[in-house]
Amino acid sequence: MPACGPRSVLFDVITIFPEFFTSILEHGVLKRGRAGEQIEIRIHDLREATDDRHHTVDDRPFGGGPGMVFKPEPVFRAVERLKEAAPNEPCRVVLLTPQGRLLTQAVAEELSREKRLVLICGRYEGVDERVAEHLATDEISIGDYVLAGGELGAAVLMETVTRLIPGVLGNDSSAGQDSFAAFDNLGASETQGILDCPHYTRPADLRGWKVPEVLLSGNHEEIRRWRRRQALEKTWRKRPDLLECASLSEEDREMLEEIRHAAPEPQL
Ligand code: ADE
Repeated sequence: MPACGPRSVLFDVITIFPEFFTSILEHGVLKRGRAGEQIEIRIHDLREATDDRHHTVDDRPFGGGPGMVFKPEPVFRAVERLKEAAPNEPCRVVLLTPQGRLLTQAVAEELSREKRLVLICGRYEGVDERVAEHLATDEISIGDYVLAGGELGAAVLMETVTRLIPGVLGNDSSAGQDSFAAFDNLGASETQGILDCPHYTRPADLRGWKVPEVLLSGNHEEIRRWRRRQALEKTWRKRPDLLECASLSEEDREMLEEIRHAAPEPQL
């Protein structure tokens, strides 16, 4: 189990490509989370849960059709072995699949509160449906497109979840200010789910393209208002659908009114 921080997550990843994860575990947020013991990641080769000489993980689909299907028994066996080792530990079993619930920031936040997440990476044409029906507690998709397998999905999920665990990003964490996150620390009311404002760094003038003056002003209240307005405007232009669910303050609504009046409707 990961060591005792206030919040920590153990990820058990079940895959036929364990080496896929070698590099991502050694970089960025996942490396930091592991070093700080906010997360632990264990990679399990599905073939070790097979019971035949050839370590067979797939078979032809009943009813015919192209491709191969992941056999259910190795997947059940792999998950049950993991659970046996810690039978009282609450555990979500996530099947990565394009048919799953979309991985949003809200879903990542929900998962970041779990103690243990078992991630099943499918391959081939699919995974025997009984895995989704009787073993997985969740089916999650990272987007409306079809990947060749769940490994990239598992990596995306782990990174998204890990950066939300307190302590992983350090004290100057920007996790709360990202696109799709709350802006609590910018002084606004809770406004989940809008895009981030633009960011700039030196030089203040790049080939004549200047950083907005207000950011150099040192006036924190002006900067806060500018950022908020930019975030709202960007969201209105690029992802107006997000505004329908965002919880907006009175100030936000006023800004949006001004934005709508000042500019033509967004062209999507
Ligand atoms: N496996 C294949 N496509 C996927 C997707 N979009 N999300 C998660 N797992 C997948």
